[in-house]
Amino acid sequence: MGYADIYGGWKADPEGYWMQAAGAIDWVKAPSRALNADRAPLYEWFTDAEVNTCWNAVDRHVLAGRGKQPAIIHDSPVTGTKHVITYGELQTRVASLAGALRAKGVEKGDRVIIYMPMVPEALEAMLACARLGAIHSVVFGGFAANELAVRIDDCKPKAIIAASCGIEPNRVVHYKPLLDGAIDLAGHKPDFCVIFQREQEVARLVEGRDVDWHAFQFGVTPAECVPVAGNHPAYILYTSGTTGAPKGVVRPTAGHLVALNWSMRAVYNVGVGDVFWAASDVGWVVGHSYICYGPLIAGCTTIVFEGKPVGTPDAGTFWRVIAEHKVRSFFTAPTALRAIKRDDPNGELIRDYDLSNLQALFLAGERADPDTIHWAARHLNVPVIDHWWQTETGWAIAANPMGIEHLPVKVGSPSVAMPGYDVQVLDEGGHPVGPGTLGAIAVKLPLPPGTLPTLWNAEERFRKSYLSHFPGYYETGDAGYIDEDGYLYIMARTDDVINVAGHRLSTGAMEEVLAGHRDVAECAVIGVTDALKGQSPVGFLCLNKGSNREPAEVVKECVTLMREKIGPVADFKRAVVVDRLPKTRSGKILRGTMVKIADCEEFKMPATIDDPAILEEIREALKTIGLAAKG
Ligand code: COA
Ligand code: AMP
Repeated sequence: MGYADIYGGWKADPEGYWMQAAGAIDWVKAPSRALNADRAPLYEWFTDAEVNTCWNAVDRHVLAGRGKQPAIIHDSPVTGTKHVITYGELQTRVASLAGALRAKGVEKGDRVIIYMPMVPEALEAMLACARLGAIHSVVFGGFAANELAVRIDDCKPKAIIAASCGIEPNRVVHYKPLLDGAIDLAGHKPDFCVIFQREQEVARLVEGRDVDWHAFQFGVTPAECVPVAGNHPAYILYTSGTTGAPKGVVRPTAGHLVALNWSMRAVYNVGVGDVFWAASDVGWVVGHSYICYGPLIAGCTTIVFEGKPVGTPDAGTFWRVIAEHKVRSFFTAPTALRAIKRDDPNGELIRDYDLSNLQALFLAGERADPDTIHWAARHLNVPVIDHWWQTETGWAIAANPMGIEHLPVKVGSPSVAMPGYDVQVLDEGGHPVGPGTLGAIAVKLPLPPGTLPTLWNAEERFRKSYLSHFPGYYETGDAGYIDEDGYLYIMARTDDVINVAGHRLSTGAMEEVLAGHRDVAECAVIGVTDALKGQSPVGFLCLNKGSNREPAEVVKECVTLMREKIGPVADFKRAVVVDRLPKTRSGKILRGTMVKIADCEEFKMPATIDDPAILEEIREALKTIGLAAKG
C-alpha cells in the first residue's frame, strides 16, 4: 500500500488505525479502546492499557533470543573510546540501576532528573526510570545551573542522576559544580543524587546526599518492570516557549510506545537488527525518541555518539561512524552538515569510507536549506529526507515515509503529513486557506498517539499556548503553506522562539536575563540569519539614564551573564548598545523589522511605528557588529 492509501485509511478510521499499530507492542493489559475523548479538547490514547516501556525497549528483545545483539554502541571520539552493550547486558545493567533506585525509595510516579552527557549510562538511567514507572526529565548539558534549578523546582525530583563531567572539544564541562549550584539555587531539594564518575574528572560527593553510581548498586536486588497505565507520563522534557519559564512537555507512555515503534518502520525504514543513528543529544527530543526509545523499542542497534560533526577529529567523523558501524539510517541536523560542508566542501573525506549500508539521510530540527540538501544528496548518493516535528509531538508531523513509499522529494519541503496528523494552514481568523497561501500551521485535534496530552502541572498554560488561539486545533507555532500536492513548507516561527544550530531557544528568556543586568533599562533579543547555525541571537541594550558605563563593557558583561544564567547553548555572543528601541505607538517592540534590517531584507515601514528615524539608528548599530550591510 502506498502513502495515499495508508493516509486515507487512517483518516477513514483513526482509532482502528492506531489499534492495529498497537498490536506491535507487548502489553501487560491490552487497551480496550484507542482514543479517550472524555475531556476533549484534552485527549489521551490507550488510557486503560497497562504496559512498561523498558520491557518493550529491552527485555522483550532478550526474551526473543536477541540478548547477544548490540543494543547500544558508544562511539566517543572526544575520549578516544568505543564500547558495545548488548541487549542482554543492557537488561542486567538497567535492572540493577532500577533496583538501586528503588532501594533508595524511587517509585512509580516519582520524578528523576537526569543530567548527563552522551554516554550509554544516560540511556540506562532513562530506561531504569521507565522500568520503575518513575518519570524522568533529562536536562541538556549545555544549560547553566540556573536553568537546571528552574527544572528542579518545576518537576520536584526525588533523585537526580548526573555524570561528573561532559567533554566538549575545547573544555571539560564540570557537571558536578553545576549540579551543586543548581541544588543550592532551587527551593526543592532532591532526596539524593547518583553520580556517574568519569575518569576524565572525578567529582567530590556531598556526604549524605550523593551516592556513587557503581557503589550504590552493590548487592541490590535487580528490579522487574513495573506496569503503568497507558496515560502514565513516561517523561517530562522542558522546551523553550515565549517566556523564561520553560514548558514541561509530558510524554504519555502507551502512545509513545505505539507511535515510535510505528515510525521506525514507516518513516525511517528500519527494524530488528538494523543500525540506526541519530546524531543529536539525549537532552533534546530527538535524543529521547531516536537515540534512546525508538530504536530500542524496534530492536535496532542505536549509536550514542559523543563528538561533533567537525573537529573530533575532522569533518569525516560522521562518515567513519556510518561506515564502521554499518549504519542503515542516519538522522542529523542541517547545521551539522553545514559545518561539515564548510570544512570539506568537495566531500573528499566521504570517499575514504564505505557507506554502502546507508539507505537514507534524515534531517530535522530546523529548516533544511536547499544547498545543504543538494550537497548531501550529491556526495552521499542516498535520499536526503527533510522531516518536520517538535518536542511537543515527539515524532514526525510531516515526512517522506521511506518505509511506506519514497515520495518524490521537493527540496525545501519536509513533504507530507503523517497518518495521525490532519495539518491545516489557517488565517488569523482560524479559517483554512488555499494551497500556496501562507498562514499559521495547525493540526486538527485530536493529535495522534505519543504527542503531548498536557504540560507538567500547567494545564491552563497548555490550553492557552496550544489550543485556545484556534479552537479545535493544536497550534504548532510555525507558519508556512501547503502546495497543491499536499507538501508542507515551514517558513518561520510565529512566536519568539529562535532556532540556533538546531537548538530551540527563547528570545523572551534571553531578554529576561539581559533585563537583570543593573545597567540595562530596556532590551530586545532577535534571531538573525546565520550561515552555519541557521539563526544566531543578537541583543539590543538601552542603558539606564545617566549611565556612564562603557558600552563595550556592558556588552561583555551581558554575554557572560547569559552564559551563567542560560548556558553556553544560548550561544549569545553579540549585542549592541542603542539609545532607544523601535516600537509601535502602543509600545510593542518591532523585533520583526529589526531582523529584516539585520538580514538586509526588504521591509515595509510598519504603519504603527512611533518614530521611523530609529530604524536608521538600529541599522548603524548593527553595522558595528558586521550586520545590516550587504556583502
Ligand atoms: N554540554 C555543554 N556545553 C555544550 C554542549 C553540551 N552538551 N553542547 C554545546 N555546548 C556548548 C559549546 O561548547 C559551545 O560553547 P562555546 O561557546 O564555549 O564554544 C556552545 O555550547 C554553543 O554550541 P554549539 O551551538 O553546538 O556550537 P559549536 O560552535 O560548538 O558547534 C556545530 C557548531 C555546528 C558543530 C554544532 O552546533 C553542531 O554539532 N550542531 C548540530 C546540533 C544538533 O545536532 N542539534 C540537534 C538538535 S535535534
Ligand atoms: P524542537 O521542539 O526543539 O524540536 O523544535 C521544533 C521547531 O524546530 C519546530 O517548531 C520548527 O520551528 C523547527 N523545525 C523542526 N524541524 C524542522 C524542519 N524540518 N523544517 C523547518 N523547521 C523545523
